[in-house]
Amino acid sequence: MNQQKTFLVFGASGQTGQHFVSLALREGHTVRALVRNLAKLATRHPNLDVRQGDVTDIPDLDELLQDVDFVICMLGNAEVQKTTKMNTAFVKQLIPAMRRKGVKRFLYQAGGLSKPPHRRLAPLFWLIRNTVARSYLGQHQDNDAVMEYLAETASDIEWMVHRAGIGSNGPSRGVLKRSDRAFSIATFKDCATYNYRILMDPSAVHTYDQSCYQKS
Ligand SMILES: NC(=O)c1ccc[n+]([C@@H]2O[C@H](COP(=O)([O-])OP(=O)(O)OC[C@H]3O[C@@H](n4cnc5c(N)ncnc54)[C@H](OP(=O)(O)O)[C@@H]3O)[C@@H](O)[C@H]2O)c1
Repeated sequence: MNQQKTFLVFGASGQTGQHFVSLALREGHTVRALVRNLAKLATRHPNLDVRQGDVTDIPDLDELLQDVDFVICMLGNAEVQKTTKMNTAFVKQLIPAMRRKGVKRFLYQAGGLSKPPHRRLAPLFWLIRNTVARSYLGQHQDNDAVMEYLAETASDIEWMVHRAGIGSNGPSRGVLKRSDRAFSIATFKDCATYNYRILMDPSAVHTYDQSCYQKS
């Protein structure tokens, strides 16, 4: 086991988040999770501190960040994000609070069809984003805006973005590696495991990589 750390998790009741919480607890860490609906997070564990709340209205973000080593955000609501950059608004509150509390490391899970600042998406991805994945356009644009905010205003924070490609909730299909080109359609479980690994990898700081299954 690595040294015991405290993770603050947003989106813990989601499809990636639930796997992430279970893994971090299994690895012997402490997890603090903010969830809207306590019943949606099935896991119960002595090292799991669940708080009820909504990221659009957190009364005391500083208190949530107390004694935290790593912050991870696997948040989303495609319907709300059609009209509101909910995640960007939240990250704009979170980063200053992290500064106030001296918390450095932050992982944000975006999607493979989101666009890092000053880069072009590959033409095929651009086409998919604007056609078959068009109903998620608001979510992609929100993720784009989060990356832009981090790149432009948060170089003092050890942020990293995982541009995940998720296809199913099946069992593990292998080990995902960081890649700035290759992209795999992975399982939620594998994406959560990847998030856990790269959060502790200093070489992932200030990257917006995609993830790709390692060839055996
Ligand atoms: N799903 C995919 O296929 C996919 C693919 C690539 C990338 N991604 C990216 O990964 C992120 C996470 O995806 P996912 O599929 O794991 O998420 P998900 O299953 O949709 O879960 C989203 C999480 O965000 C929480 N949430 C939403 N609005 C909230 C609010 N106002 N306050 C507090 N919590 C809130 C949800 O809480 P509730 O349980 O209360 O709703 C849930 O825990 C997405 O935003 C997306 O950008 C997803």
